[in-house]
Amino acid sequence: MGQELKDKVAVITGASRGLGRAVAIDLASRGAKVALIARGEKDLDELVDAIRGRGGDALALPCDVADKDQVLRTAERIRTEAGRCDILVNNAGIPAPRGIEGTEFDDWERVLGVNLFGAFYFTRALWNLLLESDSGYVINVSGGAGKRGGGSPGYASSKFGLEGLTAAIAASGSDHNVRATALYPGSMDTGWRGAPIGDKPAREIMDPAEVARFVGYLVTTPTEFVINEAILNPIGHPWG
Ligand SMILES: NC(=O)c1ccc[n+]([C@@H]2O[C@H](COP(=O)([O-])OP(=O)(O)OC[C@H]3O[C@@H](n4cnc5c(N)ncnc54)[C@H](OP(=O)(O)O)[C@@H]3O)[C@@H](O)[C@H]2O)c1
Repeated sequence: MGQELKDKVAVITGASRGLGRAVAIDLASRGAKVALIARGEKDLDELVDAIRGRGGDALALPCDVADKDQVLRTAERIRTEAGRCDILVNNAGIPAPRGIEGTEFDDWERVLGVNLFGAFYFTRALWNLLLESDSGYVINVSGGAGKRGGGSPGYASSKFGLEGLTAAIAASGSDHNVRATALYPGSMDTGWRGAPIGDKPAREIMDPAEVARFVGYLVTTPTEFVINEAILNPIGHPWG
């Protein structure tokens, strides 16, 4: 068990599978206590057991990030049960239908609600703890669609929105050494949009554990500078 993040508390949304799960494992292996957020209680409990089994410290906090009241209650649990928040990884995300004509109002509200509103809700609800940390770090997980747009108006808009949120966090938090990075991963082997896992070679699709290792690197960089954004793509698709 590493010590780089000893005594730090990391909150990870969308922690039950995919990239969020990998980030939780990586940050816990560096010594952080990880607070795991997702709706799937069983998956979170299994991950808590796995992390504890490796000597780490974890807490399962089932919550729908798009639900303001649940977010406020969860933030209060983080304050009382973990006592602090040093790292927030706003990773929870869902895909959305493609095309303007294929996107109903409900689709738009659902994807903005999880991918963008959820990130703001958690940031706002944990803001005082992040300021108190005096070395807080927020990572907002965007994606290629947050740079180039793409076929889904709701998904692309939610990810573009995270760029503005990231800049606002960095500006609002700098006096208290809160840093923020917008992370733009290309394709990851997580089963996104129902894709089979393990079918493509590593040069075509990134291993979420490796992207998580990069997240672990980001949050352990010196506090004197901020990495505003980071774009990662598989070598076979260098520009996404
Ligand atoms: N995979 C890719 O190729 C790729 C590429 C670029 C960007 N990204 C972005 O990377 C992030 C992670 O993607 P992934 O591939 O790891 O996705 P994933 O495997 O589908 O996992 C998504 C996670 O978000 C959680 N989640 C979904 N809705 C939620 C809600 N309302 N409240 C709380 N948690 C919720 C899910 O848990 P529950 O269902 O249990 O709630 C799950 O833990 C997303 O933001 C995605 O947009 C992915």
